[in-house]
Amino acid sequence: MKVLVTGAGGQVGHELVATAPDGIAVTAVNRADLDIGDAAAVAAALAASGARWLVNAAAYTAVDRAESDREAARTINDVAVGTLATAARAAGARLVQLSTDFVFDGRSSRAYRPEDAPNPLSVYGRTKLDGERRALAADCGAIVLRTSWVYAAHGRNFALTMLKLLAERDRVRVVADQIGAPTWARGLARAIWALVRADAAPGILHWCDLGVASWYDFAVAIQDEGFARGLLPRRVPIEPIATAEYPTPAERPAFSLLDTRATRDLIDAPALHWRHHLQGMLDDRRPA
Ligand SMILES: NC(=O)c1ccc[n+]([C@@H]2O[C@H](COP(=O)([O-])OP(=O)(O)OC[C@H]3O[C@@H](n4cnc5c(N)ncnc54)[C@H](OP(=O)(O)O)[C@@H]3O)[C@@H](O)[C@H]2O)c1
Repeated sequence: MKVLVTGAGGQVGHELVATAPDGIAVTAVNRADLDIGDAAAVAAALAASGARWLVNAAAYTAVDRAESDREAARTINDVAVGTLATAARAAGARLVQLSTDFVFDGRSSRAYRPEDAPNPLSVYGRTKLDGERRALAADCGAIVLRTSWVYAAHGRNFALTMLKLLAERDRVRVVADQIGAPTWARGLARAIWALVRADAAPGILHWCDLGVASWYDFAVAIQDEGFARGLLPRRVPIEPIATAEYPTPAERPAFSLLDTRATRDLIDAPALHWRHHLQGMLDDRRPA
């Protein structure tokens, strides 16, 4: 089966290429190869690849910058998704569109289910939600897969930022009142491949690693596991702080745990606790 992966230079795109299972021939394009907003180029890339699936891992992911760069966020996260979905329908291909826990407002007292009402708090969240709607409206058999707190051994993410800060500073302060689930891009990529292989029905699904954490919990685990692997020279105090003490341009949901049961019931990819996946990512970075 042939699959076109857009945004292949990003965290998830990179892991999609690295984990493509036997029997799936991937054409991977990064931003320099294909701008997802260019309708003619998207149609040509789909035709050239002969793909039956288009997995879109490209997005505008700078959550805070999006507050002052609305047009760029909207162009990539919303309008371009319509371009991809329209091209997929015309080519007879199905679309996997990745989305985010930030479509929710965080006021839930239980993990968010795919059918729960979204209410984004930020420009990023709004543009991703509008992109979801374009994907689903285009009649291209789209699967919208929401995920949360993605990290990998490469790219821009909290885990790598924390490793750097913990190595450089004498103490680190981390927000302790935002709750969610860290998700290793590699496990997410495997779940995406499992959905493609299962030819899962169109609709909205959720995927994140199992368990629950605050950013503070995640930082403590990164230090413990990083130190144990020789990735950090020493331990430093990590201080839990409130969101109000670390103001950011974009408002984030206080609680954005995703309920992944429906996806887990559909596929054979293993779902693991986030700490187990963190260990896997850090093992990849361990000095030889
Ligand atoms: N990261 C998270 O914590 C998180 C959480 C929940 C959901 N998600 C979703 O998961 C998906 C993958 O995220 P990620 O973490 O892998 O993001 P990422 O590492 O930022 O990768 C996104 C990629 O898209 C590329 N891109 C941006 N605009 C493009 C365009 N017009 N045409 C083609 N490529 C373009 C970027 O290139 P440049 O680097 O050159 O801009 C980058 O390589 C996204 O849909 C994101 O919204 C991410």
